[in-house]
Amino acid sequence: MSDLSRRSFLSAAWKVGFGLLAAAGVVTTWDLLKPTLAAGVDILVKTVKPDAVPSAGVLVVPKARGYLVKVDEEEILALSEVCPHLGCRVPFIDENNQFECPCHGSKFTRVGDYIEGPAPRGLDEYGTEIVDGVIEIDTSDVIAGPAPGSERA
Ligand code: FES
Repeated sequence: MSDLSRRSFLSAAWKVGFGLLAAAGVVTTWDLLKPTLAAGVDILVKTVKPDAVPSAGVLVVPKARGYLVKVDEEEILALSEVCPHLGCRVPFIDENNQFECPCHGSKFTRVGDYIEGPAPRGLDEYGTEIVDGVIEIDTSDVIAGPAPGSERA
């Protein structure tokens, strides 16, 4: 292989490699930040028995685009993962025991109350019902999150 063709081959290989890396970065970033407004809308989602919801942290319910959170032995909340600011997906950060929006930095307590950031309120809540011993989330029944400075009743 001549120097010229080796150089051409390496140049093309680098371009393809960087192209693939850039494409992977775009796909990963979009998957993390894409709005989830249309997902999980107006459906009933059967989840788990109340006993299966952990006392610490949250239980992720991808099909409902939300979380189940045990407040105490009597109360379990179904929270939306959609940020009330501009709709980014808000993950729960175990180390900080709170929800933190990756888009503009809004933060929410474990039960979805507003802490700080541009979000106008806490995380929205879905209606729930126990059906045949299992928690059913109704994503069409959306209760707006509490205003900053107030807590969920
Ligand atoms: S979308 Fe969450 S803080 Fe802006």
